[in-house]
Amino acid sequence: MGRLLTRTQIRRIVAENGREVLAHPNMQRERANYQHGNVSTFAHSIRVACLAVWLADRAHLWNRVDLKSLVRAALLHDYFLYDWHDWDGGTHRLHGFTHGNAALLNAMRDFRLNAIERDSISCHMFPMTPTAPSYVEGWLVTAADKLSATRETFSLDRFNKGKGGKGDRNVKDEERAR
Ligand SMILES: [Fe+2]
Ligand SMILES: [Fe+2]
Repeated sequence: MGRLLTRTQIRRIVAENGREVLAHPNMQRERANYQHGNVSTFAHSIRVACLAVWLADRAHLWNRVDLKSLVRAALLHDYFLYDWHDWDGGTHRLHGFTHGNAALLNAMRDFRLNAIERDSISCHMFPMTPTAPSYVEGWLVTAADKLSATRETFSLDRFNKGKGGKGDRNVKDEERAR
């Protein structure tokens, strides 16, 4: 790919490659589960996917990355399907360590995943979990997740620009791009 991708092109790539995942009823349920502050897991997952594609583009990794696997893994990396703030039983402390596997089990139940997607989802919390990602796609998802969660270094508002807010408002953008 010659020219660097624009924000609109990145959103279109995510919408097209993530169509099956984004349309699933369980993914739609993630609109009601909140992640960081007032950002839903659904919106967070789209941000991570956009940022992972942006990182792949800016690092010129196109010949090393399977784009569809990258987008799907990023969209499913937090597919644990509960609001971890409400998670009871005293185990919510372990959420950071266990939710990669919970996401993987749910995702394997709902979708046909390849090895890149499975590994990238289960290892996305590295180094909190002992196993590092085995594929470059997994490293991109891990990096994008951390950048997205901390909102450091990059202005993630690039993906919300003009909408004047956070949370699910940017999701409407994704839907328009679909
Ligand atoms: Fe996560
Ligand atoms: Fe995440």
